[in-house]
Amino acid sequence: MLQQSGFGIAVTGSGSCTPQVSLDNHGLSQIVETSDEWIAARTGIRSRRLANHGMSLCDLATFASQQALSMAQILPTDIDLIILATSSPDDLFGTAGQIQYRLGATKAVAFDLTAACSGFVFGLVTASQFIRTGVYQNVLLIGADILSRWVNWSDRGTCILFGDGAGAVVLQASEIDRFLGFEIRSDGTQNSSLNLAYKAQSQELIDGVNIGQGTFQPITMNGQEIYRFAVKKVPEVIEKAMFRANISATEIDWLLLHQANQRILDAVAQRLHIPPEKVISNLANYGNTSAASIPLALDEAVRQGKVKAGDTIAAAGFGAGLSWGAVIFQWGS
Ligand code: COA
Repeated sequence: MLQQSGFGIAVTGSGSCTPQVSLDNHGLSQIVETSDEWIAARTGIRSRRLANHGMSLCDLATFASQQALSMAQILPTDIDLIILATSSPDDLFGTAGQIQYRLGATKAVAFDLTAACSGFVFGLVTASQFIRTGVYQNVLLIGADILSRWVNWSDRGTCILFGDGAGAVVLQASEIDRFLGFEIRSDGTQNSSLNLAYKAQSQELIDGVNIGQGTFQPITMNGQEIYRFAVKKVPEVIEKAMFRANISATEIDWLLLHQANQRILDAVAQRLHIPPEKVISNLANYGNTSAASIPLALDEAVRQGKVKAGDTIAAAGFGAGLSWGAVIFQWGS
C-alpha cells in the first residue's frame, strides 16, 4: 500500500529476551493454594520466566534491542529515538537513558512511556508519529517489564498471571508505508480495576508542612472486570483500526494480542471471525509479560518463520488505565 499522508513507516527488526529462570504452575502451587489444572484451564498459562535478584530491566531491554537492531541491519549510532514502554523501570526518573548508554546509541533521544499492558501499542503509535512527520528515520521501541517485583506473591488471583521479559522492534522511514491504521483509547473511570498504586505516609517536616512519603504497593486487580472489559473493548478497537486501514478481518494474516489470557485471545478472535490458526499465542510459556508480551510473541513468530515479510498483523494491547489500542501493520521493509 502506498503511503496515505506524510512519510511511510516500516517495522524492520525484532528482538526479545527473557530470564532463564522459570516457575511452572506446579512450583507456584507451593507458594499459593492453586493447581496446574486450575491455572491452565482459566488462563492457558503453564509457566513464566522470572528475573533473579541481580537482573535489571535494562539488562533484558538492552539484549532484546541488540537483536532487533541486528535484524534491521542498523547500528546503534543510527537510532534517532528510543522509547521504552514499561511500568516497572529500574529508576522512576526513567530507564531509557541507561539503555541508550548501554547500546552506545549516542545520537538518540530516549524516554520512558507508561501505559501498562497497552504500553507497546501506545509506543508503536508514538514512534510512528515521529517518522510520519519526517522528524526521525530510525526508532527503537522496547516493551519490557519485571512485574515479579510488584506482584503480591500471596494473592493467588494475580500472582499466577504475570511473568518477566523484554521485546523490541525497529521502526524506520520507508518509501512503502507498512503502518496502515491505529486506534488508541483510555477510560479512567475504570482505573481502580487494575493498579500498582503509590501509598503515602504523612510526614511532618516542620509545623504545618506535611509531605507524603511512601512506596508503591503490590498489584491489585478485579479479574472479572478486566476480563469483561477486554473481550468487549479489544474487538471494537481492532475493528476501528481496520476501518482506518481500510481492510477487513479476512485480510489479517496474524492476530497479535497482548498475551494476558488464552480465553481472552480466543474470545476476541471469535468475535472478529479470525480462525485460531491465525492467532499468535505463546503465553503458555511466559504468562502475561505486560508491555513485553506483544514484541516477545512477534519476535518468536518471526524467528520461527511464521510471520513473513508483507504479512498483515493486527496487534492490540489492553490493561491498566484502563487503556487499550490496536495497530494494523505489515511486517518487514
Ligand atoms: N487457583 C485456584 N483457585 C483460585 C485461584 C487460583 N489461582 N484464583 C482464584 N481462585 C478461586 C477464587 O477464590 C474463587 O473461589 P470461590 O468461588 O470459592 O470464591 C474461584 O476460584 C473463582 O474466582 P474468580 O476470580 O471468579 O475466577 P475467574 O474465572 O474470574 O478467573 C482470572 C480469574 C484472574 C483468571 C480471570 O478473571 C482473568 O483472567 N481475568 C483477566 C485478568 C487479566 O488478564 N489481567 C491482566 C490484564 S492486562
